[in-house]
Amino acid sequence: MSILIPFEKDLDKASPNRNIAPLTTEIDSEERLCVGGVSLSSLAKQYGTPLYVLDELTIRKSCKEYCDSLKKHYPGKSTALYASKANSSLVLSSIIASEGMGIDVVSEGELITAIKGGVPSNKIVFHGNNKSISELRLAYDNDVIIVLDNQYDIKQLANIVKPGERKARLIVRFTPGIECHTHEYIKTGMIDSKFGFNADELESIFIQFKKIEWGNIIGLHAHIGSQIFEVQPHRDLADVMVKILEVGRNYGHPIDILNVGGGLGIKYTSSDDPPSINSWVKVVSESLYEACENRSQKLPLLMCEPGRSIVGTAGLTIYSVGSKKEIPGIKTYLAVDGGMSDNPRPITYQSKYSTCLADRPLLSGNKRVTIAGKHCESGDVLLNDVLIPDCNGGEILVVFGTGAYNSSMSSNYNRIPKPASVIVSKSNADLVQRRECPEDILRNDILPDRFIAKD
Ligand SMILES: Cc1ncc(COP(=O)(O)O)c(C=O)c1O
Repeated sequence: MSILIPFEKDLDKASPNRNIAPLTTEIDSEERLCVGGVSLSSLAKQYGTPLYVLDELTIRKSCKEYCDSLKKHYPGKSTALYASKANSSLVLSSIIASEGMGIDVVSEGELITAIKGGVPSNKIVFHGNNKSISELRLAYDNDVIIVLDNQYDIKQLANIVKPGERKARLIVRFTPGIECHTHEYIKTGMIDSKFGFNADELESIFIQFKKIEWGNIIGLHAHIGSQIFEVQPHRDLADVMVKILEVGRNYGHPIDILNVGGGLGIKYTSSDDPPSINSWVKVVSESLYEACENRSQKLPLLMCEPGRSIVGTAGLTIYSVGSKKEIPGIKTYLAVDGGMSDNPRPITYQSKYSTCLADRPLLSGNKRVTIAGKHCESGDVLLNDVLIPDCNGGEILVVFGTGAYNSSMSSNYNRIPKPASVIVSKSNADLVQRRECPEDILRNDILPDRFIAKD
């Protein structure tokens, strides 16, 4: 099983998104799997399971690779933002801030987490296709850049910014009509997307904003999808965006930011072969530069918003193996103590993952099993038909690549408490999110007096 390309000197091959496992993954003298110098089975003992584990070095390496590659390949100014929908927490906000990146948020909760984690508000971009008035007010009051997604945003903001007050800084999101070969549910750049204006509405927005006093259009945004392995869509996107940039500037708008979204894929299984962060940035930068040259446009500040490729392969989840159900001649289910509430991606997108046993990582699989979750749903399966060594209850099973869109998409389905999260680095583990307890599950329930049984 090849989960890691170890100690790779070639920048492109060593790109964190091209390894299934975190970059610090090792096997210790007792043949146990370790990340950040800590054995995963010892983490299970100390913090319980299921447990989300994040490798700090892999996250920082991804951030550095985006920032360094932008400097190397784009001759203008650039800002890499972390799309915090992938995984939002104080510790991640703090790492992002310390790496000099900005953050993209889509709710009051993500915005507060970014600010409290130390991200400067001038490096925060606020998205959303149905922002509430309080979210818009919070964003405006903190002077974060607001992404205009629709006319409703414009109507709401007109009531928030009072005459004579500081103008809102605005980026207009549009759907560029570029298709990507990715799962249908995560395509967002197509014409029928719920996000953003249609490209053919933009001229009328530019005309509308000539009369608007409360905000300046300072940028354009488009995002074409997620878990993308092709780079051609990004070449096409640069061309479409610069065409619109020219129209907007001709109407007199001070458009100086092009935000090309995120979308770079990661390696979940050995058959995935995403481009490295460096090659993705190179294509995005060179195509934007060329498109600006072709239209004689001054280079805008290039923004990008990677989420999955910053945290995805830095994370893994450890579970305890429990019951086994053998259906002779059909399949064997091995159940773990989590499932669709801590990782809803398999049931939502049929996503694939890689796995191994924490204390027997080198033993090749001789047993074909389906790893099932513990939820009351037949589709609650984390991995289908995987080969692992024959194993019994109590062993620790590792699922790789769960750093993105797991914790952030988790739920309390079946009233199962959410797992704890730890971050590992240099043989040390720190708890960064407490495990929920049954009291947390009941915290918001209210039993009105008339329902309380009286004897
Ligand atoms: C607007 C926007 N930006 C950035 C991202 C991050 O994408 P990814 O995690 O694929 O890099 C998304 C995710 O869908 C998005 O909708």
